[in-house]
Amino acid sequence: VKIAVFASGSGSNFGAIEEACRNGALHAEIVVMVTNKPDAYVVERAKKAGIQVAAFCPKDFSTKDAYEEAILGTLREVDVEWLILAGYMRLIGQHLLSAYPSRIVNIHPSLLPSFPGKDAIGQAIEQGVKITGVTVHLVDEGMDTGPILAQRAVAVIDGDVDKTAEAIHAVEHELYKETLIELFSR
Ligand code: GRF
Repeated sequence: VKIAVFASGSGSNFGAIEEACRNGALHAEIVVMVTNKPDAYVVERAKKAGIQVAAFCPKDFSTKDAYEEAILGTLREVDVEWLILAGYMRLIGQHLLSAYPSRIVNIHPSLLPSFPGKDAIGQAIEQGVKITGVTVHLVDEGMDTGPILAQRAVAVIDGDVDKTAEAIHAVEHELYKETLIELFSR
């Protein structure tokens, strides 16, 4: 399965998926890493792993459609079949959604539908919840909506964002890998 990973940040989930592809646990190949942040750490990770980087700055395009059309051009060049979002901080628009219907997957650091959007871990701690978690879901036009594929609970640690984020990240890496293995074996 040829996949594109979309990421805007440190890329620890990208790293976990890349490793799973490399060691054969996940029968997929990351043919391109798409980012809207050319200076994000995930770019270093992709280069180190020998994976093509496609960086597109939304501000270089007059519309979201034009931005996504440029991305789509790259995806088509390398025959991408699935889009895997891993900390990609942009809402997916109609253009990509209609090119990849039910073939875009996202991971989010909460038990959706609780705490969608930015800073999900901070939101959960702010609300005083004791259990939060991780959700892997198919992407639709909403913000962190779309059919849920898998969820796992993670306990909040000492009401602390950093400690809880660390625990969540560890669960994300495992859950994303497991969910993609299952999805690609269908
Ligand atoms: C993860 O918590 C993911 O759930 C969210 O963004 C974060 C990305 O982390 N969508 P990383 O860049 O993979 O380390």
